[in-house]
Amino acid sequence: MPFEYSAFPTLKTDRLVLRELSYADTEDLFSFRSDPVEQMYNTSPVKDLPETRALIEQLRTAYEKERAIHWAVTLKGEDRAIGLFGFNYWERFHRRAEIGYDLARPYHGRGLATEAATAMVRFGFEEMELNRIETETIADNHASVRLLRRLGFRLEGIRRGYSLEDDGTFHGSAIYALLREEHQP
Ligand SMILES: CC(C)(COP(=O)(O)OP(=O)(O)OC[C@H]1O[C@@H](n2cnc3c(N)ncnc32)[C@H](O)[C@@H]1OP(=O)(O)O)[C@@H](O)C(=O)NCCC(=O)NCCS
Repeated sequence: MPFEYSAFPTLKTDRLVLRELSYADTEDLFSFRSDPVEQMYNTSPVKDLPETRALIEQLRTAYEKERAIHWAVTLKGEDRAIGLFGFNYWERFHRRAEIGYDLARPYHGRGLATEAATAMVRFGFEEMELNRIETETIADNHASVRLLRRLGFRLEGIRRGYSLEDDGTFHGSAIYALLREEHQP
């Protein structure tokens, strides 16, 4: 039986705990979701704490309605949210879901995103019983593309000139996916 949303699925890795997102995370989330450099190729930066709280409410509601799962990424022993990772949607019938990830800038370049995403991907295939994990990333978001390739995702195509980003130019959007049969735990 696939995961049924009965209890929140906390995930642990060597250095991280991925736990339920709560309103107590508002300030920590604001600190990286409002960072214009970090959010350059992600969703637009949040403006203030109420907007951040509304984002948390939206993600918690999506979980309650069994449509998505988002985790606050924390370092073991330090219960502060340094990232927001999750499955943005879960198409149960087709057994596919979309992965999303955002790590605070001071924590980039240490392999932490790979560690968190690897745990999520394993959860997706083993507990959600997914057949396909997909995502779409700005093709020029090189750190994101490297992360996906490290995880084994394959490029399926690029939607050219797809979005007008915060740098004022149009960017292609790259579609990546990893299938169950390609996953190497
Ligand atoms: C996408 C994102 C999560 C990637 O973060 P990241 O820090 O580059 O990824 P990792 O944590 O896996 O770190 C990998 C890097 O750490 C290095 N590293 C250092 N120590 C390491 C260790 N112990 N283990 C593994 N890698 C290590 C790797 O060599 C790698 O470097 P490289 O990318 O130059 O090859 C980050 O750029 C981000 O949050 N961006 C903003 C949000 C965003 O754009 N999200 C995507 C929306 S589609």
